[in-house]
Amino acid sequence: MTRRVTDKAVLVTGGSSGIGAGLAARFHSRGAQVIISGRDRSRLEEVAARHPGMSVVVLDVADPDSVTEAMADVAARVPHLTTLINNAGIQRLLDFSAAEPPGPRDVAPEIATNLTGLINVTAAALPLLRRAERSRVVHVGSGLGFVPFANTPVYSATKAAVHSFTLSLRRQLAGSSVQVVEIIPPVVDTPLHRDLPSPPPRAMPLDVFLDRAMRGLDAGKDEIGIGLGRVSQIGARVAPKRLFALINGRA
Ligand SMILES: NC(=O)c1ccc[n+]([C@@H]2O[C@H](COP(=O)([O-])OP(=O)(O)OC[C@H]3O[C@@H](n4cnc5c(N)ncnc54)[C@H](OP(=O)(O)O)[C@@H]3O)[C@@H](O)[C@H]2O)c1
Repeated sequence: MTRRVTDKAVLVTGGSSGIGAGLAARFHSRGAQVIISGRDRSRLEEVAARHPGMSVVVLDVADPDSVTEAMADVAARVPHLTTLINNAGIQRLLDFSAAEPPGPRDVAPEIATNLTGLINVTAAALPLLRRAERSRVVHVGSGLGFVPFANTPVYSATKAAVHSFTLSLRRQLAGSSVQVVEIIPPVVDTPLHRDLPSPPPRAMPLDVFLDRAMRGLDAGKDEIGIGLGRVSQIGARVAPKRLFALINGRA
């Protein structure tokens, strides 16, 4: 079912960089009241300064107290939220075949940020989203949630879990005023890949990605698979081994 949401009051997590900053700028240019969030106030203020009227809230999605405090702050500023872009994410290379495999401290941050953080932010935002006549929560997943990249095993697993959570949330909120959307990006040219030894090949330029993401949102889609993200969605069903080999090379 497609439903139209007017994006009037938009909260973006991870709004200081890459996809989050880009989506925030797109909504701001359409006249929305946009609040960007992230852990580093100065990075947020740098972005907001380029878009007069955009505001910032410090929010560490991996810290439950920070989620509660930031959402109270947001609630004091806007009567309702029409749009939550749940986008904050980190990616790490982790090698479980190494002589010293990753320990709990290596594993925890991606799960706390990409999965638990996303769930907690969505849960905390729901009362504000419900106050709008129509609203939507947008989860930023990944093509790697459908076909994992073995060098980023925990990252890929968190994105698979984000997809699963999104399906359940959409079912629970079916018939409510809140639409549940998942964007499934391909590799996009952003600082996310700073941990990789070299920039990933075939990264989609950020502006091209943003054009396509906004088009999907404007069309009211529930799932917006873009480029290789869409290929991974389909390939995971029809040719999972082939696609896994394509992304990871032969073992
Ligand atoms: N770029 C790609 O190829 C690609 C592909 C598929 C999916 N994605 C997804 O797209 C989303 C955005 O990634 P990006 O490519 O735009 O990366 P990015 O440029 O590195 O931006 C990540 C953003 O998340 C914020 N962040 C990180 N940890 C946070 C935390 N604990 N609490 C709040 N904010 C936090 C960062 O700000 P601070 O560090 O200042 O907090 C930053 O604003 C992520 O979920 C990523 O997994 C990206």
